Amino acid sequence: MADQPKIAVIGSNMMDLITRVDRMPRTGETVEAPAFDLGFGGKGANQAVAAARLGAEVLMVTRIGDDLFGPAYRDNFERLGIDTRHVATAPGTSSGVAPIFVDADANNSILIVKGANNFLSPADVDRAAADIMKCGVIILQLEVPLPTVYHAVEFGAKNGIPVILNPAPAAKLDFRAIRDVTYLVPNETELEAISGLPVAGVDDARTAARSLVDQGLANVLVTLGARGALLLGAETGEFLAPPHELRPKDTTGAGDAFIGSFAYHLLTLGDVRKAITMANRYAAASTAKTGTQKSFPTAAEFAALK
Ligand code: RIB
Repeated sequence: MADQPKIAVIGSNMMDLITRVDRMPRTGETVEAPAFDLGFGGKGANQAVAAARLGAEVLMVTRIGDDLFGPAYRDNFERLGIDTRHVATAPGTSSGVAPIFVDADANNSILIVKGANNFLSPADVDRAAADIMKCGVIILQLEVPLPTVYHAVEFGAKNGIPVILNPAPAAKLDFRAIRDVTYLVPNETELEAISGLPVAGVDDARTAARSLVDQGLANVLVTLGARGALLLGAETGEFLAPPHELRPKDTTGAGDAFIGSFAYHLLTLGDVRKAITMANRYAAASTAKTGTQKSFPTAAEFAALK
């Protein structure tokens, strides 16, 4: 493909240990669960895979563990055509893992053990600088140390590269350190943690997003699950993208599918509202199958759904 968009993902990778449960055990109780699956996950890697599946050239900057999972993860990136020159091993450290429990209604509960992801440093970003500079957008999340995230935001701003920050999992952030983010893409809980305002529903999301834009953020794009996504921007204005109806089998990773697809479509379509609409569709499509990355459609599969 001649004009593949180039995307840098600076962030996490985890091995997902996915157990389907009829119900969670109480303390001291043993309960049989119907199924288990091992999959490649981690918010950063998932976002990279979504963009790569759609056709982007993806550069991954991450730390894998010094264990069985580390090389397996590197192979997974390579199989998917993701650039692994900046996938480094954290010596003597286990890989990031995520025990995930999916119930009969497709809801998930996730634990993360960051492992090697704790060792992704600002120096790793600097080592990849020349390659990141060739990218049209940088994607970040919060499963790696905050100083690395803040450094990458600063790097993007200094070099004129748009930055998408998915502030997940929810954390309190230093607003000054994220003010130069181009698109902050939180869900309701994450928006609440950053804005300090209660967020339950579209009206609250609008008020909280507006407060961040008023403080200087360029764009806040709130993912609202079954209610779609809301964009509020200083220049882009307000846009509420309706949800895409589908009966989900497993929503794990749907937020990551949204981010990877949003970045890809932002670069290929050059129109933020169209990119959000496509990202909504892609995220919904990802819930039709079980698993995390396994459920992300390829470009051809996605085109066939439209
Ligand atoms: O967003 C889903 C992801 O969160 C899972 O793949 C898991 O690894 C955790 O990082």
